[in-house]
Amino acid sequence: MALLDRAIVRALPAVPRGIVGRLSSRYIAGPTLEDAVRVVRRLNAEGKMATVDVLGEEIHDAEAARDIARAYHQVFARIEGEKLDANVSIKLTGLGLVLDEGLCRELVGELVRDASVRGNFVRIDMEDSTTTDATLALYRGLRADGRDNVGVVLQARLRRTEGDVAGLHNVRLCKGIYVEPPAIAYQDAEEIRASFRRTLAALLDQGAYVGIATHDESLIDDALRQVRERGLSREQYEFQMLLGVRPERGDALVRGGHRLRVYVPFGTHWYEYSLRRLQENPAIAGYVAADVLRRLRP
Ligand code: FDA
Repeated sequence: MALLDRAIVRALPAVPRGIVGRLSSRYIAGPTLEDAVRVVRRLNAEGKMATVDVLGEEIHDAEAARDIARAYHQVFARIEGEKLDANVSIKLTGLGLVLDEGLCRELVGELVRDASVRGNFVRIDMEDSTTTDATLALYRGLRADGRDNVGVVLQARLRRTEGDVAGLHNVRLCKGIYVEPPAIAYQDAEEIRASFRRTLAALLDQGAYVGIATHDESLIDDALRQVRERGLSREQYEFQMLLGVRPERGDALVRGGHRLRVYVPFGTHWYEYSLRRLQENPAIAGYVAADVLRRLRP
């Protein structure tokens, strides 16, 4: 990332929320479930699947966790009612992981059961490294109870990740968005890519279903090679991308006969997610400048 971009990334938390909201609108469906449904319908019409995320991370009481769980049950009902090709992605901290792990297990268990009854699926997002053990343990517990409609996420950035592969059946593999210290995480972009490639190979070799979640051209190329060399059919893996990021590359994957799932966040708690997306945009300086110019225009 260029010097100016890096400076702007550092300054982003000081940028007024209104500007962050405008800059990041392409990454978020909108504030309501209606917005998410509209976006999922469009994606489905383009031959893409979706995974719906109810935004909300910083919760401070059990009722807030229950509210988020309720919102997910509504999402399942709409997906079923409208026959949308979509599942959901959940964040354990939003469902009370730090507040009360028992409550979190209860809420996730209910969501996975609801999904199962409706023929749907729950992906548990991976958050920062303080939550990795608890997240993997919750996933493994659900699978041990016979719940096969649940999947988890591994982050190539973490040094531990290759060691976590054994016994996982359904994994989204991504680089990992959270800033982690060198003792536990690769810092160099090339090392993170190498870890991604090795972890993908290990997951595919053990027969796991992998959601290959990246917009990085070299990793997409490598993944295409790995699935081709193993002779996998299109139902045995999927690519995944974030709403608003490289949609034209997603179109090309779909045209190439691959399955693609797009991550569709919606809700009123959009700020933290938006900051993370903007901080990852390699053209952030140009993006901010264009917004400023647009506002200066009479
Ligand atoms: P990289 O960041 O190098 O991006 C590759 C290219 O994509 C860039 O050069 C640029 O062209 C484009 N690009 C990327 N981000 C952009 C942006 N915001 N705006 C414009 N262009 C952009 N992380 C995590 O820790 N836990 C999780 O559960 C998930 N879940 C998840 C689901 C899905 C479906 C995806 C795609 C990603 C995640 N992530 C995640 C985020 C992931 O860890 C990672 O931070 C981002 O995907 C960016 O990494 P890339 O592999 O795309 O490479």
